[in-house]
Amino acid sequence: MAARLNDVEEAETVHFTLDGREVGAYRDETIWEAARRHGVVIPHLCYKPDQVGLRPVGNCRVCLCEIEGERVLQPSCWRTPTEGMQVSTRSERAVHSQKMVLELLEADMPDESYVADSRLDDWARQLEVGKPRFSRREEPKADLSHPGIAVNLAACIQCTLCVRACREVQGNDVIGYALRGGGSHVMFDMDDPMGDSTCVGCGECVAACPTGALSNAGIDPHQQWAWQGQESEAST
Ligand code: SF4
Ligand code: FES
Repeated sequence: MAARLNDVEEAETVHFTLDGREVGAYRDETIWEAARRHGVVIPHLCYKPDQVGLRPVGNCRVCLCEIEGERVLQPSCWRTPTEGMQVSTRSERAVHSQKMVLELLEADMPDESYVADSRLDDWARQLEVGKPRFSRREEPKADLSHPGIAVNLAACIQCTLCVRACREVQGNDVIGYALRGGGSHVMFDMDDPMGDSTCVGCGECVAACPTGALSNAGIDPHQQWAWQGQESEAST
């Protein structure tokens, strides 16, 4: 759980209803953060609260929740609660949308898995998303030019966690995001092969990536899983 520096002194100043239960939120806390403090973990992919410095941006939409009186579902990782708000993360509409986002993202995944602990796969399993009904996009080629980091953008869900990790956490600014629409993609420096870029191989982007589109080079996904010896993050 992301600790707040003043957890002890700070009072919950906003009171709202979460899945039928009265709960409190700290000032500026998002619905997602407050929900987790109260034992509700909402699916999330473009948000990684336990990796320090990665702010939420609300772009993947897998954390959608329903707010009474609002026409459009809202990303819980980005939206803050207000006094008296009625929020549902488990309503039929919210869960349907969460599952649809997961199914659409899974439809774009390659057959080959690049990491054994894909957070996308974890959430798809937890929400019982079956085989995707949609056709796959054309897959970009792997870039294995860097000695430490393998780039398989076929598994990229364009969550931009790597961009934030590189630019805002490490201050390296090697990873960017190019173009728009169907042609948009993650790139390194001026769209160079990663091995030719100014990447210093810190690994912050690999740690952030939820699908293995960026992974440790030369490590078999299943060996990597055993080596890391960690539990699924989606379940925390
Ligand atoms: S490479 Fe990974 S972290 Fe970067 S945008 Fe794609 S899925 Fe997200
Ligand atoms: S986790 Fe909230 S929009 Fe991606």
